[in-house]
Amino acid sequence: MGGLLMLLLPSLFPSLFSPLSRSYPSVFSEWNAPRPMHSHLLNRALQQQTSKAQEAELWSPLPNQGWEACADKQDTQSLGRKSQGYIQVFLDGGLNQQRMGICDAVAVAKILNATLVIPYLEVNPVWQDSSSFADIFDVDHFISALSNDISIVKELPSDYSWSTREYYATGIRATRIKTAPVHASASWYLENVLPVMQSYGIAAIAPFSHRLAFDSQPSDIQHLRCKVNFHALVFVPHVRTLGDALVSHLRSPPSLDNASSATHFHKGENDRAGAGKYVVLHLRFDKDMAAHSACDFGGGKAEKLALAKYRQVLWQGRVLNSQFTDEELRGQGRCPLTPEEIGLLLSALGFNNSTRLYLASHKVYGGEARISSLRQLFPFMEDKKSLASSHELSEVEGKASLLAAVDYYVSMQSDIFISASPGNMHNALLGHRAYKNLKTIRPNMTLLGKLFLNKTMQWSEFQQAVQQGHKNRQGQMRIRKEKQSIYTYPAPDCMCKA
Ligand SMILES: *[C@@H]1O[C@H](CO)[C@@H](O)[C@H](O)[C@H]1NC(C)=O
Ligand SMILES: *[C@@H]1O[C@H](CO)[C@@H](O)[C@H](O)[C@H]1NC(C)=O
Ligand SMILES: *[C@@H]1O[C@H](CO)[C@@H](O)[C@H](O)[C@H]1NC(C)=O
Ligand SMILES: *[C@@H]1O[C@H](CO)[C@@H](O)[C@H](O)[C@H]1NC(C)=O
Ligand SMILES: *[C@@H]1O[C@H](CO)[C@@H](O)[C@H](O)[C@H]1NC(C)=O
Ligand SMILES: *[C@@H]1O[C@H](CO)[C@@H](O)[C@H](O)[C@H]1NC(C)=O
Repeated sequence: MGGLLMLLLPSLFPSLFSPLSRSYPSVFSEWNAPRPMHSHLLNRALQQQTSKAQEAELWSPLPNQGWEACADKQDTQSLGRKSQGYIQVFLDGGLNQQRMGICDAVAVAKILNATLVIPYLEVNPVWQDSSSFADIFDVDHFISALSNDISIVKELPSDYSWSTREYYATGIRATRIKTAPVHASASWYLENVLPVMQSYGIAAIAPFSHRLAFDSQPSDIQHLRCKVNFHALVFVPHVRTLGDALVSHLRSPPSLDNASSATHFHKGENDRAGAGKYVVLHLRFDKDMAAHSACDFGGGKAEKLALAKYRQVLWQGRVLNSQFTDEELRGQGRCPLTPEEIGLLLSALGFNNSTRLYLASHKVYGGEARISSLRQLFPFMEDKKSLASSHELSEVEGKASLLAAVDYYVSMQSDIFISASPGNMHNALLGHRAYKNLKTIRPNMTLLGKLFLNKTMQWSEFQQAVQQGHKNRQGQMRIRKEKQSIYTYPAPDCMCKA
C-alpha cells in the first residue's frame, strides 16, 4: 500500500501551475516479448470448463443487502441567505480525481453559502487532455439536479471576469487560496475562505484536490457530496450514446462473420446463464506502475534493466521497493498483477473462453505481447477499438478524459466489474457500484502473490484457493471506516437502511 501511495503522490500534491516536468527517457530496447510466467497453470486454465451451477452463481446479481441509494432523496437545507459570493476551483488529476474534486467543491460552496462557478479542469501533464467540464459532463443537468441545494453559474459575471486561470498563474493574488490543507474541515473553510470571499466577492481555491475531510461533516453535506457524484454528474450525450452502442454490442452474441474465434459459439448459447452478460476488466499495467513496483514481469534481463533505469530517471532512488527481492514483494502482494495473472484469476473464478470481456484500460506496458495470454484465455475480449468504428470514436479519439468517461460508463452498465489495479478509477467504480448494489470483484493481491510464487501448485488447488479467497470480495457491502472516502465506501453516509 505504501508503494501505491507513492505512485499516487504526484497527483495528490501537484504543484498546480507548474506542471510536473517529467523527463521521459527515450525508448529503451526492452522488447523481448514477455513470456508467460505461469505456463503450468495457463495450460490447464485454457481447458477451463464451467459447470452450469457455477456459472449461474457467478453471474447472479447481488442479493439485497439492506442498503438503499438515497442521496438524491433529500435536498439540503433550502437555499437560505442570498449567496455571499463566488467560489472557483481549479482541479488537477485525471477524470476520476477531478470528479471527487467537483463533489467537494459543491459541498464547500454549500458550507459557505456561495455560488459555485463550474469547476475548471486543468490539463493533465501526463494525459494532455484539455477537455473542459462541459466537454465531459452534462452541465445543464448538473445545474438543475442541484438547483435546490446550491446555485451554480457557468461563467462569472463580467465584474469578476478578471478571475481566470491566467490571472492566478502570473502572480500572487489576494483572492487565491493556496494553502487549503489536505482533508480540511468545514470550519477551516469558514475561517479562511469565507473572509476572503466576503472582502472580494470571490475566492479561488487551488490546489483543491482532496481538500475536504471525509469525517465529522454534517450528514446533509455528506448526502450532498454523494448526490453530486451519483446523481448530478452524468456524461455528455455523445459519451452516453457511444457507451450504449458498446454495451449493446457486448450484450449481443459475437458476430459470426467477423471474429475468427467465434466459430465455437454454437446454437443454444442463449440458454446459458452468462448469455448476454459481460465483465469489465479494468487493467492498468503501465510503465510507471511496472517500474515503481520493482517486481519481475517475465521480460527477462533486458526488461529488468530498462525498468530499473526508468525508475532511476523518474524517482531518483526514492522508490524503496527495490530493496526487496521479487519474491518478498510478491509475498506481500505488492506486485501489480500482470494481464496473464489476471487471466488466471478470472479462469479460476469460473469465467471461460465464451465469456465476453471488455478491457477498460489505456496503454499496457509491453503492448499486445503482454496481453496475449489473457487474449488466449478470453478470445471474446473487446475494447472500444474492437467494438466501435473509427467514425463512432472520432469525437473521443485522443482525449484521455473522454475515453476514460466511456470506459466508466461501460463499466457501470456491466454485470461484473473487476479491477486489477488500485487507483482512482478502481475506487470511483467500487463506490459507484456499491451505491447501486452491483457486483464488483476485488482481487486479494496478497493471496494471489503467494499463490503465484508457488511453482508446483496444481490447477485444482489454485482454483480452490482463489474461489475460497474471493467468496466475500464480490461486492458485499463494506461500511466506511474513519478517514476512508465516502466516494469509495458510500455506506453509511450516503445510503439509507432499506
Ligand atoms: C474453448 O475451450 C474448449 C475446452 O474447454 C475448447 O474445446 C474450445 O476449442 C475452446 N475454444 C476456443 C475458441 O479456444
Ligand atoms: C463455458 O461455461 C459455460 C457455462 O457453464 C458452458 O456452457 C460452456 O460450455 C463453457 N465453454 C467452454 C468452451 O467450456
Ligand atoms: C448559510 O445559510 C444558512 C441558512 O440560511 C445559515 O444558517 C448559515 O449560517 C449560513 N452560513 C454562512 C457561512 O453564511
Ligand atoms: C465485420 O467487420 C467489418 C470491418 O471490420 C464491418 O464493416 C462489418 O460491419 C462487420 N460485420 C458485422 C456483421 O459485424
Ligand atoms: C488476503 O489473503 C491473505 C493471504 O491468504 C489473507 O491473510 C488475508 O486475510 C486476505 N485479506 C483479506 C482482506 O481477506
Ligand atoms: C505449494 O503448494 C503445494 C500444494 O498446495 C504445497 O503442498 C506446497 O507446500 C506449496 N509450496 C510452497 C513453497 O508453499
